[in-house]
Amino acid sequence: MIDEHVFGGQHTDIKLEIVERYLKRYSAALHTWCSNVWYIDAFAGTGSRTVTIKAKEGDLFEEPTPEYTEKRRGSAKIAIDIKPPFERLVFMDVKPKHIAALNALKEEHPGRDIDVLQGDANELICRQIDWDGWKSTRAVMFLDPYGMEVEWETLKKIAQTKAIDVWYLFPLAGLYRQAARSITKVDEVKAKAITRMLGTDAWREELYSEVPPIADLLGGMASTDERQRNADVAGLERYVKNRLQTIFPAVLDPWALPPVDRPQKFSLFCAISNDSTAAKALANSFGDSITKSMLPASRRKSDH
Ligand SMILES: C[S@@+](CC[C@H](N)C(=O)[O-])C[C@H]1O[C@@H](n2cnc3c(N)ncnc32)[C@H](O)[C@@H]1O
Repeated sequence: MIDEHVFGGQHTDIKLEIVERYLKRYSAALHTWCSNVWYIDAFAGTGSRTVTIKAKEGDLFEEPTPEYTEKRRGSAKIAIDIKPPFERLVFMDVKPKHIAALNALKEEHPGRDIDVLQGDANELICRQIDWDGWKSTRAVMFLDPYGMEVEWETLKKIAQTKAIDVWYLFPLAGLYRQAARSITKVDEVKAKAITRMLGTDAWREELYSEVPPIADLLGGMASTDERQRNADVAGLERYVKNRLQTIFPAVLDPWALPPVDRPQKFSLFCAISNDSTAAKALANSFGDSITKSMLPASRRKSDH
C-alpha cells in the first residue's frame, strides 16, 4: 500500500456526502450544455481514507463486534466515479506520499484525463489559474485543507475566473482559536494568519470592541484599553460568509460540521463565481435539494 491516509471523524463522511451529492447534480446539469466540465481537488489527499470502527459490546439482539478498520473513498475517487464523468480532473497535494497514491489512482483509470500536481495549492492555483479557456469551461473546486492553509488571494483568483464553483471547508475552530477573546492574546503570528485567511485586517475593528468602563472601588469609572471579541462562533461564521460575499456573487448558507455536536469545528461553504442569474439559481437549488435529501442532523445554518 502506497499510503494510508487516516483523517477526520464522522463529520468527514457527512462532508464528503454533501460534496458528492453536489457533484452529481452539477455534472448532470452542466453537461446539458457544456462539453468541458472539470473537477479540481486542491487538497486531494490520497483518494481514499482509512477509518477505524470502534468495538461494540453485544446485547440481546446483536453479537459483539471487535474494532476493525475500513477503507473508504476520498474526494478524488468520489469525483472520478461521478456520472456523467468530468472531462478533466486535477488533483493537487503537497505531500509526496499522497502524490504517489494519486498517481497510482490515475494509473487505475487510464482512459481518464487526470493531472496530478505536487506543491502548495495556493501557489499552484495562483500561478496557473489565469486562462482564456474559462469562457467555455466550467469547474468545481474542492478546498479541503486540514487547517488555515487557504489564502484569501487564492480565493480571489478563483472568483475572478467566473467559471468555478468552490466548496471550501472553512476551519472555524482555527479562526476562533487564533482570534482569542482578548485582542491582547492575538500575537503578530496569529494576526497575520487571520489576515491571510480573511483578506483584510479590518477584523481587528469588526470583530473586536472596546470593553465598557468598569466601576472602580471608589465608585468612579475606570476605562481600559482592553478590546474583546464581540462575535461568538455563529458571529464568526456570519463574518466569514460576509467576507466571501465580497468576492463571490453567491455564497450558500454553510453546513455546520460536525452538524450537532459542539463545538462546531468547520463551516462547509459553497461559493459561486459565475455571476449569471441562472448559475446562482442552479447552485441555490442544488444546495436546497441536498439539504432536504440529507438527514435532519446535516441541516444548513439557515435552517436551524
Ligand atoms: C483533509 S486532507 C484532504 C482529504 C481529501 N479531500 C479526501 O477526501 O480524501 C488535506 C490534504 O491537504 C494536503 N495539504 C496540506 N497543506 C497543503 C497545501 N498547502 N497545498 C496542498 N495540499 C496540502 C495534505 O497533505 C492532505 O492530503
